Amino acid sequence: MKTIFLLAIIALASWHVTADHLVVGDVSSAELASNVDVQYNAIPFKKRVKYYFYSQPDNRKIRGINAIDKLHSKASMNITAGGVGHSFVNLRMKSERGSGLDYNIGIYVEPFNRY
Ligand SMILES: *[C@@H]1O[C@H](CO)[C@@H](O)[C@H](O)[C@H]1NC(C)=O
Repeated sequence: MKTIFLLAIIALASWHVTADHLVVGDVSSAELASNVDVQYNAIPFKKRVKYYFYSQPDNRKIRGINAIDKLHSKASMNITAGGVGHSFVNLRMKSERGSGLDYNIGIYVEPFNRY
């Protein structure tokens, strides 16, 4: 019973975190390959839906993605293709109605093979 209660709290807490941000994979010992701010203006009464595509030029695989909603809004972001384990990712983001989008997107990839 206690365990279920604890699990529920953890689930709620992590759900809250992912409401703002998209954080996947393991970025320890990975290399930050791309760090961009993606910004779109608000359009009154509209939700903005935009895509961001990243492709790793050296074909190195993505280890992790950290996308931070800098507006701390109810915007959401999903991976629609690729992602961790692939050398590309397509991200779909959707703003709150009447809000813009402002995400900082960091893409972490496996380091170069040093042999
Ligand atoms: C992401 O997926 C969730 C759950 O399917 C959905 O509620 C949300 O609107 C999606 N967001 C985007 C930007 O596609």
